[in-house]
Amino acid sequence: MMDWTTSHYRYLARQLSRHTLLYTEMVTTGALIHGDTARFLRHDEAEYPLALQLGGSDAGELAHCARLAEQYGFDEVNLNVGCPSDRVQNNMIGACLMGHPDKVAEGVRAMIEATDLPVTVKHRIGIDGRESWDDLCEFVEKVAAAGCRTFIVHARIAILEGLSPKENRDIPPLKYDWVYRLKAKYPHLEMIINGGIKTFDECHGHLRHTDGVMLGREAYHNPWLLAGVDPEFFGQAAPVETRHQALRATLPFIQSELDRGVFLTHMSRHLLGLFHGQPGGRRFRRYISENAHKPGAGLEVIETALEKVREPVSPEIAEA
Ligand SMILES: Cc1cc2nc3c(=O)[nH]c(=O)nc-3n(C[C@H](O)[C@H](O)[C@H](O)COP(=O)(O)O)c2cc1C
Repeated sequence: MMDWTTSHYRYLARQLSRHTLLYTEMVTTGALIHGDTARFLRHDEAEYPLALQLGGSDAGELAHCARLAEQYGFDEVNLNVGCPSDRVQNNMIGACLMGHPDKVAEGVRAMIEATDLPVTVKHRIGIDGRESWDDLCEFVEKVAAAGCRTFIVHARIAILEGLSPKENRDIPPLKYDWVYRLKAKYPHLEMIINGGIKTFDECHGHLRHTDGVMLGREAYHNPWLLAGVDPEFFGQAAPVETRHQALRATLPFIQSELDRGVFLTHMSRHLLGLFHGQPGGRRFRRYISENAHKPGAGLEVIETALEKVREPVSPEIAEA
């Protein structure tokens, strides 16, 4: 998620779950090819398994960037066909590509030829003007014929004329049953469902009809939820027992980022959700918000903020 799932958020997320597949923010092919490639692709090996999400539509550029994804160590390369912002529409990036399934198929084929990494597509169930079941099936069939095996489906259409990106994440109604129908119609394809999912109960319900679940906003605003994922879905122990442990495990990485000149406030804003709903959580957030931007702010800000919330003596259980 743009500006949210930065390397700093992902590092924290990885302390909470070893098995969840994490995604980068979308990076456009133009930025990667003409900009500071190394900066855009920067991540820590501790974040693996990690997918790089690309925004673009030119087959040659997508192939080039898929190769970069492999060179830089990512585990998967994903094409964004779901972002509704005007800025990207003008460049034929994101959800508008649902109206151009042949172009998406061409790009996906080029990416698959360029890399051994899994190439996946994240898309909507439609866009205004192309929102029928048949339109959606045409899209999936063409992209699957190009070799894509995994589709991450945000279960609402994007309305490109008239809604903001934020509204496009809430207003068009969710139609989970369309994703279930895709899985039933194309059982050989992997269908991952996304949109409005917040609890493990909901995840289990969706997993009866699909192959996987992607959480966006809830995983960001309430990252402790991820601490329950390994025990609940992968049969493995949680990597940490308390929120304090998770945050402490992140500190050496934050220090190494501070050492190379990253401002604390750029990182600490992605930690604010960790004590969501906890006694003292508000004091934790307030202390960071009031102090992390000060010149020279370092780890001591986080350590003092941590003292504002009491560490439980027994393991905290992440339940959702
Ligand atoms: C701030 C923000 C940025 C987002 N950026 C991206 C992005 O870069 N790529 C993408 O595929 N989806 C992006 N999304 C959409 C989410 O991935 C997800 O599809 C959407 O929020 C619905 O799922 P959720 O209800 O679990 O959040 C973004 C969402 C938010 C809130």
